[in-house]
Amino acid sequence: MNKGLKVAVIGGGSSYTPELIEGFIIRAKELPVDDIYLVDIEEGKEKLSIVGELAKRMFFKAGLKTRVHMTLDRKEAIEDADFVITQIRVGGLEARARDERIPLRYNVIGQETTGPGGFAKAIRTIPVILDICRDIEELSPDAWLINFTNPAGIITEAVLRYTNVKTIGLCNVPIGMVNNVAKILNVDSKRVRIEFVGLNHMVYGKEIYLDGKNITSTVLKKLSDSALINMNNIPDLNWDKDFIYSLGMLPCPYHRYFYMTDEILEEEIKAFQSGEGTRAQQVMKIEKDLFEKYKNPSLDEKPKELEKRGGAYYSDAAVSLISAIYNDKEEIHTVNVRNNGAISNLPDDVVVEINSVISKTGAKPIAFGKLPIKINGLIQQVKSYELLTVKAGVTGDYYTALMALIANPLVPSVKIAKKILNDILVQNRDYLPQFK
Ligand code: G6P
Repeated sequence: MNKGLKVAVIGGGSSYTPELIEGFIIRAKELPVDDIYLVDIEEGKEKLSIVGELAKRMFFKAGLKTRVHMTLDRKEAIEDADFVITQIRVGGLEARARDERIPLRYNVIGQETTGPGGFAKAIRTIPVILDICRDIEELSPDAWLINFTNPAGIITEAVLRYTNVKTIGLCNVPIGMVNNVAKILNVDSKRVRIEFVGLNHMVYGKEIYLDGKNITSTVLKKLSDSALINMNNIPDLNWDKDFIYSLGMLPCPYHRYFYMTDEILEEEIKAFQSGEGTRAQQVMKIEKDLFEKYKNPSLDEKPKELEKRGGAYYSDAAVSLISAIYNDKEEIHTVNVRNNGAISNLPDDVVVEINSVISKTGAKPIAFGKLPIKINGLIQQVKSYELLTVKAGVTGDYYTALMALIANPLVPSVKIAKKILNDILVQNRDYLPQFK
């Protein structure tokens, strides 16, 4: 019999952890986990203990013997781990609120993963993730790193470029889109398959199948008749019918930031001025309530309120991926992985979000061919921005950082890019040791 697995969750005190625990419980038969190490930092100690105790109660209720360890010692958790999951937020929600507010001051989208907000999050996170990877290289070189940390595509790009860690980047957007399409069609999501291609938070559903039959045009028709495909954290704005018709593919919810920039900006400004605040401020409130719930010693399951967060289906995406690797399933998942020729008009060595075959050797992207001209320009531009961001995050070079922001399609001019960058560098001083 196989020995049970050791899983390390870096950022284990996150309010999302019960999602993950639920995923492990549901798949306990196919994925025998002996030990889960929830790791956090000193500032997250209290949350870690609340979430850890809830995790213990959840496993107990499920009749499982999985041991939950709570620790501030990352190395202890990583040593000999089979899987390491990273779900960290460097600087916490306060830093996210700043990321969202700085661009808004200049009438630029303020979002945690796209635009300048995502850039700020990336350069804060890259040094920390690379540090975690040094520990993995040293203490569990065979472990798989499943990265959820945002901006997930950029972080995966940094790990694959600068470390030897075996990693797969993961996001809940594709699985969320499959589930949404199934809901619109009123069918079980297992019957729906989407050919995804693009980048993280910039992924398109190129073709959509129901039981193997191509139903792309039916879904697009419903989408333009206002069947919304969205996530909790993005303003619910309808797509333009003519746009959907001419695109001929399913955009992801995050594409609204790029194709509906002015409308989204208006929504963000409205929310900010009305006192509702940016998404980080809303999430702070949701989190506060969540942790109050988690503290209740009689709670032994994931509370419903967690579904108000953008990360719905997160456990499904993460744990089914881990199971596909562990059980060598050769199953198709949509992940962030090195392109390796799958998209012929992108370099081989860049990270893309694409359907891939998952086995114990990792993720093999399925050949797609050339990106259609309609989406090629935007993807190429965002990829340039991502590569420059990774370089800036590693080197701390001001000029590379400036060029990264200038390359971002959501930044309107050099003048604005400079102002935003200067604000980001000043307001994140404590988290940017690489920028002297
Ligand atoms: C979606 C995205 C994640 C993001 C989350 C934010 O799930 O795919 O990348 O972290 O939304 O949700 P929140 O509730 O924190 O705004």
